[in-house]
Amino acid sequence: MITPFEEMESNVRYYSRKWPAVWATSSGATIIDEDGNEYLDFFAGAGALSYGHNNPVLVDIAIEHLRSGKLLHSLDTFTVEKRHFFEAIKQHVLEPRSMDMVVQTVGPTGATAVEAALQLAQRITGNRAVVGFAGGYHGMSYRAASISASMAGRETSAHLKDFVALPYVQHVTDADLELLHTTLRSTIDGQAIGAIIIEPTQGEGGARPFDTLYLRAIREQCSELGIVVIADEVQAGVGRTGPFFSFEGSALDPDIICISKSISGLGLPMALNLVRRNLDTWNPGEFSGTFRGNNLAFATSAAMLDTYWSTLDLEKGTEVRSLTVRGVLDDIASTFGQGNFTVRGNGLLCGLDVHDTELAAGIAAAAFERRLIVETCGAGDTTVKLLPPIVIEEDELDEGLKRLGDAVAQACSIR
Ligand SMILES: Cc1ncc(COP(=O)(O)O)c(C=O)c1O
Repeated sequence: MITPFEEMESNVRYYSRKWPAVWATSSGATIIDEDGNEYLDFFAGAGALSYGHNNPVLVDIAIEHLRSGKLLHSLDTFTVEKRHFFEAIKQHVLEPRSMDMVVQTVGPTGATAVEAALQLAQRITGNRAVVGFAGGYHGMSYRAASISASMAGRETSAHLKDFVALPYVQHVTDADLELLHTTLRSTIDGQAIGAIIIEPTQGEGGARPFDTLYLRAIREQCSELGIVVIADEVQAGVGRTGPFFSFEGSALDPDIICISKSISGLGLPMALNLVRRNLDTWNPGEFSGTFRGNNLAFATSAAMLDTYWSTLDLEKGTEVRSLTVRGVLDDIASTFGQGNFTVRGNGLLCGLDVHDTELAAGIAAAAFERRLIVETCGAGDTTVKLLPPIVIEEDELDEGLKRLGDAVAQACSIR
């Protein structure tokens, strides 16, 4: 019998083809389907659920909010919850890092934050062209997709031409610095460069952190030329790699930081840009959006920041868990990879590149059979990506990694 999903949903549906279960409930790192089967979730809403499904602290906040008649929709008007959110982000994120930035709330998707960042950069510099990176992914709106090198091959997408992608840099060389130098001084489609946009640790590109020395060079060269540095922290930010921002310790010191996905703490739609105060040259109302004020998300986000970012405990915990993941991935690579697998990542944004599209898909499918949810990413979809909630319990992490090892063994045995 044909299901309502098959009858009603557009052919564009994607994840449900890989994971054809009907989800019913979820908690922490676990999702339960309507037949009562429990899955460990190492995908975490594509990074939107770093604080776990239905985090109990944040659910309580949300229920209290809904029951007491507080505003849900508020555009960019003042609300009690937005004030609390601003206080929390200042106290726990900006001040401890000596960052003098303002918050621009935008419509609820990461792509909207990227759009706003690009428009502001163009406004500041008067230059439209953008430099990005191979493997970069910034969203599906027209301009965000145009600067997503990982999308550029898609036949159906039209693309703006004022964009150039530099190669990903794992270990910086003189040639990389030379190319950066020349590109930033070039014109594209008759336009000078206004902005460079980088995911300091790439997500869709294959869990790839950039060399921090290269990030420093970007800052230095862009400061010299007045080019705006945009860090897309939509996937890698908000603690995913350990520190709040994935570029911390690198001297990238971005002018604009795009944030979304896990910032509400509860998987609610929310996106914003942090903008260096002296670059906040918008005119009132110049960038708009009906759903800029998800007041419920402000409430849960403030609670998430108060709960997890007033101490270093979570950051340290993520580091410990990431060492566990790296250790197991290294073991898996040496047992099954015969020198052909590459382990990559930063914090709990990790990947096992098996350099083979079919094998990666086979591993993800075998993992699903074992009730572990993982996706593939990277050029050619050859990397199995691990994105567990950063608050995952250690025994759940161990169990998920065991299932992954079994899945790799199965997929390798039938090649
Ligand atoms: C780094 C990065 N930027 C931007 C986006 C786009 O976010 P959204 O899907 O909310 O538009 C994504 C989504 O995966 C992302 O990973």
